[in-house]
Amino acid sequence: MFQKRSLSFLVASLGIAAGLAIVASPNYASAGDAVDCAKVKTAAVKGTCDAHKGDKKAIQDAMKAAVSGYKKANPAEKIDCKSCHNEDGSAKANASADFDAKLAKFYK
Ligand code: HEC
Repeated sequence: MFQKRSLSFLVASLGIAAGLAIVASPNYASAGDAVDCAKVKTAAVKGTCDAHKGDKKAIQDAMKAAVSGYKKANPAEKIDCKSCHNEDGSAKANASADFDAKLAKFYK
């Protein structure tokens, strides 16, 4: 009985740790990191990039705000940076279409 309980505690802890790992997330952003705006295809994101002279932190902040806006409007849906970005920060194949469908509305 005791063993079974501690096992589920362990499983719960691992779940929390995994969640934290996602929130703490990968390589995005340390201040001063630069993005080559010429390589950004998505118009809204390129706009942010140009406006902030390629400052990655500024784009990240805009992305974060858009994701949290979308989450507020769609609380049941799971979405985070990894939904559209690889570990190294590059965009996944679905990123552009999902951005248009989900984030564009909330992206400023
Ligand atoms: C719904 C999809 C989606 C989600 C979720 C998303 N992004 Fe993006 N992100 C994009 C798209 C699309 C681009 C533009 C890619 C392009 O046009 O080349 C982009 C570009 C970026 C860029 C600039 C380009 C680069 O190469 O660095 C950064 C930084 C970025 N995202 C950070 C984040 C962060 C941080 C999060 C989580 C808070 C996040 N994104 C969540 C779709 C998404």
